[in-house]
Amino acid sequence: MSESTPLNKRPVKYSEDESQPYDDYITDDEFTISTNTKIVIGTIVAFLTLVTLYIFTIFLPSYFIPEGITLTTIQNISELKSPLLPSNPHSRMILIGDIHGHYIEFRNLLSKVKYNSKKDTLVVLGDFITKGPDSFKMLEFLIDNDVECILGNHEYYVLQNYAMFHRLDQPEFAIPPIHDHPISIDDSYNDDPEFLLAKKLQPRHVRYINSCSVIKKLGRVPGGMEGIAVHAGVRPDLTLSEQDPIDNLEMRSLIGPFYNESTSDPTIPGAKSWSKVYNWKNGEAPANYTVYYGHDAGRGLKLKEFTKGLDSRCDRGGKLSAMVISTDKKKKDKLVEEIVQVHC
Ligand SMILES: *[C@@H]1O[C@H](CO)[C@@H](O)[C@H](O)[C@H]1NC(C)=O
Ligand SMILES: *[C@@H]1O[C@H](CO)[C@@H](O)[C@H](O)[C@H]1NC(C)=O
Ligand SMILES: *[C@@H]1O[C@H](CO)[C@@H](O)[C@H](O)[C@H]1NC(C)=O
Repeated sequence: MSESTPLNKRPVKYSEDESQPYDDYITDDEFTISTNTKIVIGTIVAFLTLVTLYIFTIFLPSYFIPEGITLTTIQNISELKSPLLPSNPHSRMILIGDIHGHYIEFRNLLSKVKYNSKKDTLVVLGDFITKGPDSFKMLEFLIDNDVECILGNHEYYVLQNYAMFHRLDQPEFAIPPIHDHPISIDDSYNDDPEFLLAKKLQPRHVRYINSCSVIKKLGRVPGGMEGIAVHAGVRPDLTLSEQDPIDNLEMRSLIGPFYNESTSDPTIPGAKSWSKVYNWKNGEAPANYTVYYGHDAGRGLKLKEFTKGLDSRCDRGGKLSAMVISTDKKKKDKLVEEIVQVHC
C-alpha cells in the first residue's frame, strides 16, 4: 500500500503505520479549504445556471416580443378603392380565395395571370394566412402592394389570439354578432398555431389584418349585377347591413325549412349549401349582388349564376384559383370573367 501511487486524493488514516506516507501529502487544514472551494464553485455554477435560464426563458423572449397595438373595430362593409370603370378598360379585378400562407403558389398564380400592381385591382377573399408555410411573406406582399382584403375566419381567430397574448380588448365588429365565439383566456402553455402566429405579428401586420372588412362592395361585375366579396357567405334573408359577421366568416350551409339560420357544418340534417339557397332566392334581398367567396374547400370551386366559390383546396394539395374580371375585347362596356389556376 505504501509503495503504490495514491489515486485517492482524500487520505484517510487507516492505521498508525499505513498512514505514514499520506500525512505530509495533505493536512486537515487543506482538506477544509477544498470543501469550501467546492461550495463556492457549486454556488457559482448554480448562480450561472439561474442567470442562463433567466436569459433564455424570460429576458430574450420578452426582448423579441413585438409591440402590441390596440385593435380597431372591424368594418362591416367597405368599398373597393379602385373599382372597374368603363372609362378604364385596361384595368382588371383579380379575386383569389383561401391562400393560407402558400406564398410560392400565390406568386406563381400572379405570374400566370400577368398581375400588374399598377393597373390591376387584387382582392384576397380571407384566410390568406395560417396553416401554410409562409404567412409572413404573404403579409409583407399584401402590405407592400396595397392589396385589398376581406377578413377570413382564420384572420379573425389570429386577431383574437393577438389580443389575448398582448392583454388587449378583444376585436369588435361594427355589427355585433348574435353568436360570437369568445376566446377562452388561458394562461397555460398554448401551442395553437393561430396563437403562435399572433405572438410574432409586428404592428404593421396587425394594422393590415385589422383593416380588412367583413364584406367588400366590388362595383359592377359580369352579369350586370353589383358584386360583393365575403369570406364564407351571406344570408339571403337579410340585407347587407343586417348580416351577422360570424355568419359571413364561418357559414357553409343554411338550415331548412326557412333557411334563416346558418351553420358551418354542412352535414347537419336539413342543411343546404348557402349558395344553392342564394341562387334560388335571386330577386329577394340581398341577392341583388353576385357574391365572390372562399372558405368552402370541401365543396371546392363552385361557379353558379350569382355565387362564385373560389376555395379550390390549395392547402389540401388542390389548386389555387383566381377569378379574373376584365373588359370584353370587342364590347368595351361588357365585363367578362375567367378562372385561372395553379397546382398547390
Ligand atoms: C355598418 O354597421 C353599422 C352598425 O350597424 C351601420 O350603422 C353602418 O351603416 C354599416 N355600414 C354599412 C356600409 O352598411
Ligand atoms: C326563421 O323564420 C321562421 C318563419 O318566419 C321563424 O318562425 C323563425 O323564428 C326564424 N328563425 C330564426 C332563427 O330567425
Ligand atoms: C334589390 O334591387 C331592387 C331593384 O333595384 C330594389 O328595389 C331592392 O331594394 C334591392 N334590395 C336590396 C336589399 O338592396
